[in-house]
Amino acid sequence: MTLPAATAERLRGAVLDGLLGTPKRLPSAYLYDSAGSALFESICELPEYYLTRAETEILQRHAPEMARRMGAGALLVEPGCGSGEKACMLLQHLQQPAGFVPIEISTSALEGARRLLRERFPALPVHPLQADFTASFTLPDVAAASRPVFFFPGSTLGNFDPASALGLLRRWRAMGNAALVGVDLRKDPDTLVAAYDDARGVTAAFNLNLLARINREFGADFDPGSFAHEAIWNASESRIEMHLRSRHAQTVRVDGQRLEFRAGETIHTENSYKYTFEGFAELARRAGWRLTGQWTDSGGRFAEYFLEP
Ligand code: AVJ
Repeated sequence: MTLPAATAERLRGAVLDGLLGTPKRLPSAYLYDSAGSALFESICELPEYYLTRAETEILQRHAPEMARRMGAGALLVEPGCGSGEKACMLLQHLQQPAGFVPIEISTSALEGARRLLRERFPALPVHPLQADFTASFTLPDVAAASRPVFFFPGSTLGNFDPASALGLLRRWRAMGNAALVGVDLRKDPDTLVAAYDDARGVTAAFNLNLLARINREFGADFDPGSFAHEAIWNASESRIEMHLRSRHAQTVRVDGQRLEFRAGETIHTENSYKYTFEGFAELARRAGWRLTGQWTDSGGRFAEYFLEP
């Protein structure tokens, strides 16, 4: 994973601030180094992690209608595109798309997406944009002469607190002609907790990998064995929280500083907000969008929303 220097510096600052603050926390974006990205791919295959399968079912069934609503000549823009696989499901049905703009913070992910797209759609203009989509970015020049349509699948929006989610949707409202957003639905806590605390321990490994990354990048001496993975349903905030709980009192050295943990103290590593249909509709409305379409999977677990100005 290759990051621009300024981005790497900002992430480093967020890591140290988070660990030295109270309560301790880490930016969830830090979960995705190359080992973390590979573990996330495995999570998507787990029986308990229904999100990816549910969304794929929705896209497979409804991509033709979604593409029709996006209209001819759309410029598909995908913040945090990852492999670019999901965009292919739409591009396949889009009428004379003006192009595809994959946005990724990591050059290696961006290069992978570009390669996949070139292979599947040799005639499609692809304009990779290396940027942190949570900061402000400018679309490539082609955007001025076409109709940018934002695609934000995978419940990535759920990783942002509602104020930040609102900010993202507002900014894209100012830049785009439409948006297709995929978000996990609120449901019974047992199903949710199992999805984030699977029997095989893949999600635990994904969470604990953060400590290995900090050891490597900050010369820290975390012992991953003395932390336990935890997934908690926070009903009042409507979110799954991932934590790393210190199994006993301990001192860890990070970046030349001593970090004290009480027995049972946690590092909060991720939030995954779950929206009801009404909750998402309200968020979209406050961001200045009209919610003009919604689709769900046969199990009613996940939703894809179409937004227009
Ligand atoms: C990729 C952010 C959508 O929140 O469900 C999976 C990440 N964390 N298991 C999610 C994740 C734990 C995932 N997102």
